[in-house]
Amino acid sequence: MNDSGATVLVAGASGGTGREVLRILDGRDPTVRALTRSAAMADRLRRLGADDVVVGDLLDGTGLSAAVEDASVVISAVGSSPRDILTAEEFVDGAGTIALLEAAVAHGVDAFVMESALGVGDDRASVLGRLFDTFIGPIQAAKGRAEAAIRDADIRHTILRPGVLTNGRRTDDVTAAPPGRQLWGTVSRADVARLLAAAPYTGAAAHRTLEVVATPSHRDAGLSIDWQLPRPTGTIAVEDGE
Ligand SMILES: NC(=O)c1ccc[n+]([C@@H]2O[C@H](COP(=O)([O-])OP(=O)(O)OC[C@H]3O[C@@H](n4cnc5c(N)ncnc54)[C@H](OP(=O)(O)O)[C@@H]3O)[C@@H](O)[C@H]2O)c1
Repeated sequence: MNDSGATVLVAGASGGTGREVLRILDGRDPTVRALTRSAAMADRLRRLGADDVVVGDLLDGTGLSAAVEDASVVISAVGSSPRDILTAEEFVDGAGTIALLEAAVAHGVDAFVMESALGVGDDRASVLGRLFDTFIGPIQAAKGRAEAAIRDADIRHTILRPGVLTNGRRTDDVTAAPPGRQLWGTVSRADVARLLAAAPYTGAAAHRTLEVVATPSHRDAGLSIDWQLPRPTGTIAVEDGE
């Protein structure tokens, strides 16, 4: 995919991973639009690199059209807080992400990237992964519904299922593998953010669901993928990358 003149929407931009996505895209070619429910976050998101901020809520649909209008890429790093398990009727991980997907398809967005979680879906997960799942089962189930909708939709997609997230530094050394290989472990939000930002520009990531943990664990289970970030601002495109 070509990044020239593109707008990338980052949903969940104020969150731990979302902020890392803004940092990685800062100084790169695409225009970056951030989605947040909080108008008070706008200045902070601009300082982190957002060119544009849309205030909206994926669960009530406010701001949804403005968020995806003219965007060519949607990166979703939204997520519920653990207290939502007790109170929420619907989760942003499920219904909210599906609303974002439907708006993206309706507006002709080229690529949709979702940050999901290890343990989502029916694929063989590790024992530890299944244990983790029992604590946040309703949220994992909601993510599973969103994943299924994304795989069914007529849009290029990448779904990343990270292990337990940390605020550690970016290492650029992760294992990304198809579901079923029993990956388990931690991975930094910064490393996940690099893959989320690169997925639309990386041919080998198209139409894939990938589990992601920090290397060295499971190194042999991983695919060899040359993740391509959009080019830095002011440089000339050499090739499309696909
Ligand atoms: N914690 C872990 O170990 C772990 C492991 C694997 C996967 N994950 C998943 O990875 C993702 C990112 O996690 P994180 O901890 O980096 O993020 P986070 O800090 O929890 O941020 C999530 C963001 O979602 C946004 N959001 C929530 N409800 C929304 C709604 N109704 N409409 C629009 N935006 C909404 C919030 O933005 P505003 O408040 O600005 O609206 C918030 O900044 C989540 O899906 C999480 O479940 C987490």
